[in-house]
Amino acid sequence: MKLLKYTRRIHNSIKTRGLYNTINLITDDYFFKQKFGVDTGGVYELKELKTLGNNADRGVYYQGTNYRYFKKTMQKVIVNFSESTFIDFGCGKGKALIMAGEYGFKKIIGVEFAKELYDICLQNIEKIKPKVDPINFEILHKDATEFEIPNDVNVFFFNNPFDYDLTEEVVKKMDLSLQANPRKIYVIYFSPLHKAVFEKRNYEQVFELKAKNKLEAIVLSK
Ligand SMILES: C[S@@+](CC[C@H](N)C(=O)[O-])C[C@H]1O[C@@H](n2cnc3c(N)ncnc32)[C@H](O)[C@@H]1O
Repeated sequence: MKLLKYTRRIHNSIKTRGLYNTINLITDDYFFKQKFGVDTGGVYELKELKTLGNNADRGVYYQGTNYRYFKKTMQKVIVNFSESTFIDFGCGKGKALIMAGEYGFKKIIGVEFAKELYDICLQNIEKIKPKVDPINFEILHKDATEFEIPNDVNVFFFNNPFDYDLTEEVVKKMDLSLQANPRKIYVIYFSPLHKAVFEKRNYEQVFELKAKNKLEAIVLSK
């Protein structure tokens, strides 16, 4: 049964992402598991999961961030990590949170509305805690639009979590938090389908990452 489900996922992935990206995805998850000993792999449709609230139709399926690409985008984030807070909206199984754990952030926050992914994320974070510097992780089972952004978050991470309207709702909250506490912030946005939301609100693009002519991620600042 499990094998059938897995084969179907791979088949769907090849159909939507192509063979190259599917192999890239599987090998990245495999090496990540070898390095950190955590399960962050797979692709999960939101309709297969128990999600909070009414935004499941506006969210995007789970798929972890590519480790190699993450490191490339982080090179453009010029902050003092030990004084910085990182947040991942739609943190899934916590892959990006674990990657961020390698940079020595003061605090790392993950917000996830799918119960199954949130539970796996908690287990993964417990597993890696002994391997990273004492870092303060906070994982919340919440809809991202319900989350009140703390006024010291300065690195915001999105891996294509939701549609245009939800992205705009969250970015409005980011701007309110900036008004309350003006500071320099960075946004890392993977599969940036709704980058227009940021452009409209005067975020400046400082980097774009392309692979095989496909736009994988952008880094913005404000
Ligand atoms: C493409 S995955 C990214 C996972 C993770 N950020 C990573 O890069 O490894 C998108 C995630 O956003 C979550 N998501 C979608 N809509 C959400 C919402 N309204 N609130 C919280 N999480 C949401 C999904 O459940 C999924 O885990």
